[in-house]
Amino acid sequence: MWWQRKCIYEVYIPSFCDSNGDGIGDIPGVLSKLDYIVDLGIDIIWLTPFYPSPMKDHGYDIQNYKNVDVRFGTLADIDSLVAAAHARGLRILIDLVVNHTSGSHPWFMESRSNRVNRYRDYYVWRDPAVDGGPPNNWLSHFGGSAWTYDEQTGQYRLHLFLPEQPDLNWANLAVADEVDEILRFWLRRGVDGFRVDVAHGLAKDPLFRDNPLRSSPSNSPGIAVREYHSTTHEFDHDRPEVLNIYRRWNSVVTPFDAVLIGEVNINDAAKVARYSKDGDGLDVAMWFGLVECGWDIDKITALLREPTKESGKFGWVQSSHDRPRSTTRFGGGTIGARRALVLATLMAGLPEVFVVYQGEELGLPDGEVPAHLARDPITHRDPMATGRDGSRTPLPWSPGLNLGFTTGTPWLPMGQRSESYCASVQAAISESWLNRWRRLLAARRHFVSNANMQWLQMPIGMIAYRHGEVLVIGNLAADIHTVATEYNKCTLLYSTTEQVQLAGADISIGPEAAVIVGVE
Ligand code: GLC
Ligand code: CA
Repeated sequence: MWWQRKCIYEVYIPSFCDSNGDGIGDIPGVLSKLDYIVDLGIDIIWLTPFYPSPMKDHGYDIQNYKNVDVRFGTLADIDSLVAAAHARGLRILIDLVVNHTSGSHPWFMESRSNRVNRYRDYYVWRDPAVDGGPPNNWLSHFGGSAWTYDEQTGQYRLHLFLPEQPDLNWANLAVADEVDEILRFWLRRGVDGFRVDVAHGLAKDPLFRDNPLRSSPSNSPGIAVREYHSTTHEFDHDRPEVLNIYRRWNSVVTPFDAVLIGEVNINDAAKVARYSKDGDGLDVAMWFGLVECGWDIDKITALLREPTKESGKFGWVQSSHDRPRSTTRFGGGTIGARRALVLATLMAGLPEVFVVYQGEELGLPDGEVPAHLARDPITHRDPMATGRDGSRTPLPWSPGLNLGFTTGTPWLPMGQRSESYCASVQAAISESWLNRWRRLLAARRHFVSNANMQWLQMPIGMIAYRHGEVLVIGNLAADIHTVATEYNKCTLLYSTTEQVQLAGADISIGPEAAVIVGVE
């Protein structure tokens, strides 16, 4: 399986690189940076949605699954990108967003027109409750009820996200047939697989039962988030039926040797593992345990270990376009970036794939976005919520106008980042974050796919595992630690710190640092 032990790079297209000065990153912009991505040591690019969209959720609201939005380019641009990536040995994954469509997708326009339209059952329509209110207590991720009443046809429609993102009805096999064709459309164009959006969400309880109330309330500052967590999500998430969808897709993608990697956003490793077991569902389930936590040694240790007890195949993530960047969560500035690199080093050798969000390699913290320039629909609906704009501010490429991202006005501000964060500046400095990440991803190639990994006993504050002939050791504590290994010979393959010493079988590691060591 070509994707095993590979490193995926998430390209959030609107903020990656703008080629034509309209302030929005685009496909030709990605093409112009392929060599940068190769030099970083990436194997697979995941492109966030580029399809025609009214952009209510920045492209995660798709109006046409078989085309490219003019803001991002053309189908020909995608073809050129795929060809140029393949010529460099890179693979391309695209985002498959089929929990919902845009409210302006032609299917939905038909569906809402009347109750007997042939597209009616493409979406989830239900009669009002006896009091005229929503059919059940399900809540939207983005605040309020997950149901919106439609005056014209007298029923409610379901949306786990914005009202402008109506949920598809996966109990209807016609929907499944349509999506099979979408997969084939892109596979024939040469893409190497899909990142499945909201992979835990597509199937819903056939009886539409109320979600149970939760006893311990969330302490999130956002009202909508607090409300969302006031119930469990037993009946709108992680339904057993959902795996049948992935089994079906698996048989569609296998003849093309393509891969399915899911956003399984539930924080229970045993449940996540079910999505990528036995080779007939998803190939890889992304593990989001680490995308929310701060620099909490016990939590990080537990969140790294939990998935490895399961037999599913995991994708390791610490930052994404949906959460504050780990540099920010870990204290910001040099301290935060150093800690993020330590966590990256610890994740690098874990099976199966390692996912890097654009800009992690530059040690980027979140950019600052003043309230009046906020673009995230979550912030618009709930000003107290931790919005997603900070982690989505554009990449800094080179000193000067808009740090080289665009010659126009960036769609989101550059975020007050200094020139020292620019890729071109960092490329010239041996100890920059960029060059440390490059060395990490190069060292990562020492882990071989068929070797087992095994956790090692360590003193408090330390975490270590052996993977084949390689040891990964992290010292998350604030003081130097020395570990006695049982090997005759240790060779340093990578270190996040200069404070590391190998003396025979003993390895001493400075505070908040990690090393990769070859052993014999
Ligand atoms: C996923 C995406 C997120 C989007 C949501 C709805 O979680 O990563 O950005 O808002 O799905 O499509
Ligand atoms: Ca552009």
